[in-house]
Amino acid sequence: MLLLRDAIIRAENLTKKYRSGDTDLVVLNRIEFAVARGERVAVTGASGSGKSTLLHLLGALDRPSSGQIYFEGSDIFAWKEEEMARFRNREVGYVWQQQALLPEFTALENVMMPLLVRGPGQGMDRSSAERQARVLLDEVGLAARGSHRAGELSGGEQQRVALARALVTRPKLLLADEPTGNLDHATGEAVAALLGQVHRTHGLTSVIVTHNLEFAKSCDRVLQLERGDFSPREAESSSRAS
Ligand SMILES: Nc1ncnc2c1ncn2[C@@H]1O[C@H](COP(=O)(O)OP(=O)(O)O)[C@@H](O)[C@H]1O
Ligand SMILES: [Mg+2]
Repeated sequence: MLLLRDAIIRAENLTKKYRSGDTDLVVLNRIEFAVARGERVAVTGASGSGKSTLLHLLGALDRPSSGQIYFEGSDIFAWKEEEMARFRNREVGYVWQQQALLPEFTALENVMMPLLVRGPGQGMDRSSAERQARVLLDEVGLAARGSHRAGELSGGEQQRVALARALVTRPKLLLADEPTGNLDHATGEAVAALLGQVHRTHGLTSVIVTHNLEFAKSCDRVLQLERGDFSPREAESSSRAS
């Protein structure tokens, strides 16, 4: 059983609604769940079931309509803006389906970016950032591509750069939204394997939205979103586990 004190991140009564005309679209309806430190969780569900919405909330990129998310026991939406910015920059690494890499900048510069853009007085000096970024590019197998412009790299290479950029700050939590969704099968498999590898080597907690059922099954747990909540299958499996 997952004891609450072992949870790195925990959602309580989490609800997200969008106003559409004069009705509310309830995307997440009082969701409760916890992720243990070191766990690798897959989130699946049909298109429009709220997977990206959930990931945005977990990464403090959006606010819920009601409910809380606790990171290491602390209510993230009660934080001041600077604490939230710090959380986004240092504790969380994000990988999206469509990478927001800066196409005119090199792969290396893209990976360095999170270290350079920190608030006044907190940014890392350029040579340290470069050193750290090179280590990460090497880890994702792109040591030889550092000076290539991001926009000229293949889809799979861009995804590796994005992963290096997500990890360069040494985050505790990795959030990935359909990270293999735009890749061909073989490239997707390679990126999925890399996600599993860095999960272990970086001691991460990972929450990964995916449509790849093989990959989902390789994770510690699968959460399936359906009509605003996790489907009963998850409830059954967690009651069996407890
Ligand atoms: N900013 C928004 N305003 C209104 N509706 C939104 C907004 N973002 C997402 N939605 C709606 O919320 C639902 C869930 O979206 P999303 O989380 O992107 O689903 P998924 O990632 O599972 O495909 C969809 O019906 C989508 O249209
Ligand atoms: Mg989505």
